[in-house]
Amino acid sequence: GPAPLIDPFARAITYLRLSVTDRCDFRCVYCMSEQMQFLPKKELLTLEELDRLCTAFVRLGVRKLRVTGGEPLVRRDIVRFFEGMSRHLEDGGLDELTLTTNGSQLARFAAPLAAAGVRRVNVSLDTLDEARFARVTRWGRLPQVLRGIESARAAGLRVKINTVALKGFNEDELERLVEWCGAEGHDLTFIEVMPMGDLGPEADRVGQYWALSDLRRRLSETWTLTDLPDRTGGPARYVRLEETGQRIGFITPLTHNFCESCNRVRVTCTGEIYTCLGQEGRMDLRAPLRASRTDGPLEAAIRRAIGEKPKGHDFDYSRGTEGGKMRRHMSHTGG
Ligand code: GTP
Ligand code: 5AD
Ligand code: SF4
Repeated sequence: GPAPLIDPFARAITYLRLSVTDRCDFRCVYCMSEQMQFLPKKELLTLEELDRLCTAFVRLGVRKLRVTGGEPLVRRDIVRFFEGMSRHLEDGGLDELTLTTNGSQLARFAAPLAAAGVRRVNVSLDTLDEARFARVTRWGRLPQVLRGIESARAAGLRVKINTVALKGFNEDELERLVEWCGAEGHDLTFIEVMPMGDLGPEADRVGQYWALSDLRRRLSETWTLTDLPDRTGGPARYVRLEETGQRIGFITPLTHNFCESCNRVRVTCTGEIYTCLGQEGRMDLRAPLRASRTDGPLEAAIRRAIGEKPKGHDFDYSRGTEGGKMRRHMSHTGG
């Protein structure tokens, strides 16, 4: 087959994060601007184009596909996309087909996703308090998301909860989230808030940033933490709570950078490839995709982009709101 995708730092690219829509039914304060202007539909890649694009990546050695947004489950034809991708699971091209979601639509979609071969979902949930939930999502309803998570479990999906640790917002309930996930049988990963999008007083990532080394220390006052070897190929480092057997992940781009083992690229819903979450560099894949009915130009463009993948991000809060941040919001690439 074709040569695998290797970047300039000898990292093999085997993981594609594909954003299928820029829309979302929530506006999480750290992820999307409240005044978000959605793209006209004609800018988006069609379902057939998304399928062709992913199939090209699979041919080039991608083994894991994570669908993101915006909120992936608000794209109307999304189940058909997953059903199409399931052929790559069946023929061994993909090891995993999965998604990251806000959970609001899971009650409707958990069963068809499971039927299409999805085994796990990552669900964003920063608080178990309804009023706080409405505040951080700007209007989301917690019970709807909890019902979605329950539907995922009922459909046989493993659930990983993603919690962004925010100083002055959910610091005081992180132990409770650990306990809740333990009781419900969900995995849990805590995330350091990354400086993307507006960093003004309205969306105060600088002030909300909390180093997870502090959380780790705090959790060790309640539980015995044992470090687990990193076997998942993801950005999280894991610990086990000896008392409960639970596995807790920490995603720490700021305090412990994991770029040296990076295996991923991102493609937006308009077909731009971003080779690093924490850099502005991007290239257009839509034009080469549309230029030819065969995939030669597309594959060449993918290789060109990966040939310029940077060494890592330079997120940095020490320069305040002036430096070490991305102008774009997290929602642009779906994390
Ligand atoms: P699994 O390990 O497969 O469960 O997924 P994941 O944790 O990589 O993906 P998810 O979409 O749940 O992302 C969780 C958090 O990790 C989000 O805040 C992402 O922005 C962040 N994240 C994912 N990949 C990267 C990365 O390459 N670099 C950085 N800095 N953050 C990342
Ligand atoms: N910093 C860290 N994580 C973020 N997410 C969204 N915005 C940010 C940010 N600024 C998380 C969401 C979701 C995942 C895709 O990214 O909570 O779980
Ligand atoms: Fe990879 Fe960039 Fe994320 Fe680092 S910040 S792990 S290089 S995508």
